[in-house]
Amino acid sequence: MPSVLQDAYIAKLTQMDLLESACVHESGPIGGASKDDTLKHFAKRFTASVGRVQYTMLGDDNAFSAVSGELLTSFSSGHVALLDIPCGTGAMACALIANLIVLRESSLLPKLPLHISICAGDYSTHALEIYEDMIGNLASIAKTQGITLSLSTMEWDASNPEHMQRLVDTWFASGLEANEHVVVVTDFSGALKDSNLSQAFNVCFGELLSRLYKKHVLVVWIEPSSTKDGDRILQKVVGWFKTSFSWFGASHQTADARPSALFNNKHVLNDQSFRSGVCLEMFQRWWRKT
Ligand SMILES: C[S@@+](CC[C@H](N)C(=O)[O-])C[C@H]1O[C@@H](n2cnc3c(N)ncnc32)[C@H](O)[C@@H]1O
Repeated sequence: MPSVLQDAYIAKLTQMDLLESACVHESGPIGGASKDDTLKHFAKRFTASVGRVQYTMLGDDNAFSAVSGELLTSFSSGHVALLDIPCGTGAMACALIANLIVLRESSLLPKLPLHISICAGDYSTHALEIYEDMIGNLASIAKTQGITLSLSTMEWDASNPEHMQRLVDTWFASGLEANEHVVVVTDFSGALKDSNLSQAFNVCFGELLSRLYKKHVLVVWIEPSSTKDGDRILQKVVGWFKTSFSWFGASHQTADARPSALFNNKHVLNDQSFRSGVCLEMFQRWWRKT
């Protein structure tokens, strides 16, 4: 985890009296609407979630080069409107921003003006509060590297079509000047094992995609690969795109071709490493000109 994010994470854990709990690694918690579930996930799984996004952006693995290239190109300059669902306590956006900061600090990426308008949705209001603080902590350092941030968070129930419409309205309104829209869905497979939620979300996700018809958009869906759940949900998602949204391009159509990796993730609070896994799918409304 980049040190700028590590500092922000440890400061927040300390403020919330969660440092001790976070020292003990656990693989089970998937978050939830309650405060207890949210705090447990923040303390136990934030590092793992950050690691998956970091591996996606920078992993030394050919299978990830296409998605890494797309993300680094999208977030190189201009105005990008980012939709982060289900956002939890901000691991995805924090990992993205912190790694962009490091790449710019080390002159591996040019410091071109970049504005990211983030719209983040989750049904845990406790998670949204932590999210706002975590992004707030990174904003001033991001600014020193030419990256400005704006943030809208929304209490969003993934099974509620009206919530999805309101989330998209908020996202579009915050990104009126955006040259690119990026949707990142991370670690939703645990919750989507509930078939009622999965069916309802399929409808809502369809509404989201319909609203993107005229946009230059990149959709990246990232899941843990340590259980079969990630693969299963990605297979389903590819099916949703194929049957209802064939006007989107899918980068990987079979489980065999899907980027998937196991890697060592270093715990931020002790010197131990733990095994993590990541798999993903990427979809684009328009392919980039080469
Ligand atoms: C495993 S966590 C992942 C959080 C974040 N994406 C990450 O990678 O750290 C799953 C998230 O889904 C949220 N969630 C579960 N069911 C939901 C629903 N029906 N509507 C909205 N959010 C939901 C939880 O509150 C939790 O924040």
